[in-house]
Amino acid sequence: MCGIVGYTGNLQAASIILDGLSKLEYRGYDSAGIAVLNEKGHTEVVKAKGRLQNLIDKTDSGKAIKGTCGIGHTRWATHGEPSQINAHPHVSSNSSDISSDNNSEVIGVHNGIIENYLEIKEKLANSGYQFYSQTDTEILIKLIDYYYNKYDHNPLSAISHSMIRVKGSYAIEVMFSDYPEEIYVARKDSPIIIGLKDDASFIASDVPAILKYTNSVYYLDNMEMARITKGHAQFYNIDCKEIEKEVTQIQWDAQTAEKGGYQHFMMKEICEQPKAVRDTLNSLIKDNQIILNEKLNIDSEYIKNLNKITIVACGSAWHVGMIGQYVIENIAKVEVRVELASEFRYRNPLIKKDDLIIVISQSGETADSLAALRLAKQSGCHTLAIVNVVGSSIAREADNVLYTLAGPEIAVATTKAYSAQLVSIYSLAVCFGYIREAFDEDKYHYYVNELLSIPEKIDKILENKERIQWFAFKYSNARDAFFIGRGIDYGISLEGSLKFKETSYIHSEAYAAGELKHGTISLIEDNTLVIGVLTQSHLYKKTISNMVECKTRGAYLMGLTNYGNYQIEDTSDFTVYIPKLEENFAGSLAVIPLQLLAYYVSVSKGIDPDKPRNLAKSVTVE
Ligand code: M6R
Repeated sequence: MCGIVGYTGNLQAASIILDGLSKLEYRGYDSAGIAVLNEKGHTEVVKAKGRLQNLIDKTDSGKAIKGTCGIGHTRWATHGEPSQINAHPHVSSNSSDISSDNNSEVIGVHNGIIENYLEIKEKLANSGYQFYSQTDTEILIKLIDYYYNKYDHNPLSAISHSMIRVKGSYAIEVMFSDYPEEIYVARKDSPIIIGLKDDASFIASDVPAILKYTNSVYYLDNMEMARITKGHAQFYNIDCKEIEKEVTQIQWDAQTAEKGGYQHFMMKEICEQPKAVRDTLNSLIKDNQIILNEKLNIDSEYIKNLNKITIVACGSAWHVGMIGQYVIENIAKVEVRVELASEFRYRNPLIKKDDLIIVISQSGETADSLAALRLAKQSGCHTLAIVNVVGSSIAREADNVLYTLAGPEIAVATTKAYSAQLVSIYSLAVCFGYIREAFDEDKYHYYVNELLSIPEKIDKILENKERIQWFAFKYSNARDAFFIGRGIDYGISLEGSLKFKETSYIHSEAYAAGELKHGTISLIEDNTLVIGVLTQSHLYKKTISNMVECKTRGAYLMGLTNYGNYQIEDTSDFTVYIPKLEENFAGSLAVIPLQLLAYYVSVSKGIDPDKPRNLAKSVTVE
């Protein structure tokens, strides 16, 4: 995934674009580039390998590039290694010459993947085009140039013909040197938004890049295009017919998307979890009643007659599904399956009309989750999206959407969005269970009260973060780590392990505790770090036995359990306690120390936890 920014107005474009890119660097960060077009049609392109800071330094924070209309890009390589030549923007001329006076130049940036780029490359080569980079983007820009020359230098015709010709996913932002002060954008399966304020227009692949300037944004839909001039945007369908679009008001403010005094977004977002959870619960519970079904307009008869729920997601959102499987089956007594979206989409799943498919996604743009949603919709069953980013593709395409109110999540490793997703799933379990008469009213009120107590209990855990920090520094040189647990604790272990490995680069695995002895225990040796998660009282003794098995082989044990289970100290070398809570909801508390552990190990190793290597915040390619 990459980040796109654009600006046309009366101010110098470069510094606005660089500022916007800095808010999108979480989307990709192996190289960056900027192109500015001045009123005479002269284009200047500057690119740099590595972090955005290199481009900022190279352009004197943008001051070295003059012009009021420009586009920028921060890249996460898919086709072609990270390098200056492969960085975007790409140009239609035969070299990536960084300063160009060419007539009729087409200059563009692109997010996504052009799947049939080799075939198009061959066709363009036959027409005399030469290529300077290894990217699919250069080919796309040259294809636009080809149609631009063929269709009377008409930008919209050129872009629409290219859209019909290419296969894959894209958000594109293009300038034509014949049209100074104008930017053209188009999308298929990759987000792009346009914000207007007075006589200025802003373009971005995500809201934080332009929030400082405007809260009014237009979301481009699939197979749509826009022509953007100073303070104006006109929208077109693929036939180049003008269409109307509604403006969306973004409720976040720019400050919410900034670090606010924290050293890293990840720590800021860990600490924002009480609020993210409280805001999400408050949107679902009114006067101690869960209103989720009313909010989503889901009929009670439909809930009563549900055959099966399938939760589909990727990464941490899939871990929410893993915990959700236990919680929904325990509380609502409905059969639940959990599927990795990347598997689900290719395995001809058996979906019945009275099944409910729930897609969970922070970004709402994950390519596999979006494809899984589309597949589910084709089967005619009802689809529900649990999504954080308003107006994202998954949110717009699902039959119903339940928004988590976590606010903008910038760190690549999810924390607050994960927590907001978890409480959404718990609320759904209680709401559905009550409607299905799986428990009585007293139990219903008990569940609601327990849900409402979660934010305060998360706060309590956060007050003691220094203890985890101490442990993290001590164990930051670990070579391997194993997270073990049973049932819901296995689901928590999956998330703890992913957080740990993605931010610390230490090899880590999550194992269902009872499964360890079927092979993996051979990896335990002196001082191997094993973290046992024990929040479920009926499984406590079983997991303790598995921890003892590891200790006998030399493991160093950390136990994570509820206050009161003090006898764990006979077994574990270091123990973290969490407040008591209805055990079905324990994941919301147990995950907090594990997030802190991952963060502190990362920082103590000198890693930037906000931008782990090889990762991007939202995976818009499969
Ligand atoms: O935006 P999504 O929730 O659909 O993203 C899914 C995963 O890529 C994501 O949860 C990923 O695993 C996390 N960044 C890990 O911290």
